[in-house]
Amino acid sequence: MEIDNKFSYLNMQKLSVLELQETLAEFPHSRFVDLKEISPSGFIFCTSYNSEKGNHLSHSPKISLLAWWDHIGYQIRVVGTAKRISEDLADKFWLTRSKEAQVATTCFKQSEVWDSEGSMENHFSSAIAASEASISRPSSWGGYSVTPHSIEILKFKVNRVHTREYYWGEGASWKMWMLQP
Ligand SMILES: Cc1cc2nc3c(=O)[nH]c(=O)nc-3n(C[C@H](O)[C@H](O)[C@H](O)COP(=O)(O)O)c2cc1C
Repeated sequence: MEIDNKFSYLNMQKLSVLELQETLAEFPHSRFVDLKEISPSGFIFCTSYNSEKGNHLSHSPKISLLAWWDHIGYQIRVVGTAKRISEDLADKFWLTRSKEAQVATTCFKQSEVWDSEGSMENHFSSAIAASEASISRPSSWGGYSVTPHSIEILKFKVNRVHTREYYWGEGASWKMWMLQP
């Protein structure tokens, strides 16, 4: 299917960050996360399950994603449903992380309040100094795979006649509309 080819193409490009947005609260919340992979089951990102976004997603898995590949001029917008990835897959992504990232995950509670930058740095330095060569993934860290309900792929054009392909569907039956730029 054509859309799969586009995703294989995007998977081969430089890693992108996603803007991830959910609207459980009164106002929408958004932040960047690394797009780890576009797999047949969806768009994968990793984070702490106990973070603000993790808490929101455990109440409502509805989510929107926005990615921009500057060097090729591709924007994708996805609306979908997030579900946790398997423990095995979370372990795979955990092992790709730097030591600093692993220690930061284990010594901090993402999204919780702290008193000062200086004491946060001290806490981190002590945690790095005390860390083992191999750090196990905490069960509170993992990832989500977002199954798309709709996808818009925009190919930027300098003359502003951007191509906008809007896909909507489920499973294998997808429909595509061209949208005006
Ligand atoms: C370029 C960039 C990439 C980021 N990647 C991630 C990521 O992959 N996972 C993550 O949990 N946070 C990532 N962050 C931090 C998030 O934007 C966010 O601050 C953090 O996840 C806490 O979000 P929350 O409190 O809304 O849950 C990234 C930030 C930036 C600027």
